[in-house]
Amino acid sequence: MKDLKATVKSNERIAENIYSLTVTLPESAGEIHGGQFVNISTGDSSHLLRRPLGVAKVEGNDVTVCYQIKGSGTQNLATLSSGASVNILLPLGNGFNISGYKNVAVIGGGVGVFPLVATVREHCKNINFYTYVGFRNKSAVCLLDELEKSKTLTVVTDDGSYGKKGNAVEAFFADAANVKADAIIACGPPVMLKVLKTEMQKRNVKTPCLVSLEERMGCGLGACLVCVCKKHDGQNARVCKDGPVFDIDEVEL
Ligand SMILES: Cc1cc2nc3c(=O)[nH]c(=O)nc-3n(C[C@H](O)[C@H](O)[C@H](O)COP(=O)(O)OP(=O)(O)OC[C@H]3O[C@@H](n4cnc5c(N)ncnc54)[C@H](O)[C@@H]3O)c2cc1C
Ligand code: FES
Repeated sequence: MKDLKATVKSNERIAENIYSLTVTLPESAGEIHGGQFVNISTGDSSHLLRRPLGVAKVEGNDVTVCYQIKGSGTQNLATLSSGASVNILLPLGNGFNISGYKNVAVIGGGVGVFPLVATVREHCKNINFYTYVGFRNKSAVCLLDELEKSKTLTVVTDDGSYGKKGNAVEAFFADAANVKADAIIACGPPVMLKVLKTEMQKRNVKTPCLVSLEERMGCGLGACLVCVCKKHDGQNARVCKDGPVFDIDEVEL
């Protein structure tokens, strides 16, 4: 893990309220895998706390994250122009470990789609991805060119303004009989992951399933305990250090 001062290469709006930020690192940060994240700050004194964002793309020393404007931190990121400096801690967390699998179902909702993009890019030569992504509406749909590296891509929206009306979990189960996935990976809002877990239990689906959690974070390094989640064995886990990717059966959702 490195703490670097990176230079903004581009920071473009790619959908309503959603931006793609590419920074150039001054040196390699080592291997970065899909599902890992960065903790980024503009160094602005009113935004000293860094913000966690999933890695969406890595090309040499260029790292891309995509973010939705939520509050002041992401609003501040959206003001950055090329050439600006950012402080970036990376790579953080464990990422999706899917080596050894051949057919993987990918389920993403909202901003949870962005960290999945890097995983599809990383493994699409060796793994068949069957990808199901859900967005609020047509104006939030983005990154489909990247996700088209999947063997199949199904896009749905809450209001049906792009693709079928529905959510990504429904779209996956509607297709599950045609897709013999030997693993499932998912990232999205807590309610989406909860529905996925409930449906898997109801249908007695035993396919290994990895989920990436998006808790509020402080340090991102395992020290402050802001990000703890509950595990089924009664222990706590730090989402930043022990995750953000967990086996769906391991954590309470
Ligand atoms: C491992 C990880 C990866 C993430 N990857 C992405 C990503 O690729 N793209 C993206 O757009 N967002 C991602 N997020 C969420 C992102 O970190 C928050 O949206 C961001 O920190 C909000 O900062 P802010 O200052 O704009 O908003 P704040 O003013 O801090 O908060 C605005 C609103 O967002 C909510 N919020 C803040 N942090 C989180 C969080 N971590 N999870 C859920 N709700 C939150 C707050 O409760 C509040 O309602 C990720 C979070 C984690 C933990
Ligand atoms: S964010 Fe500080 S321990 Fe996870």
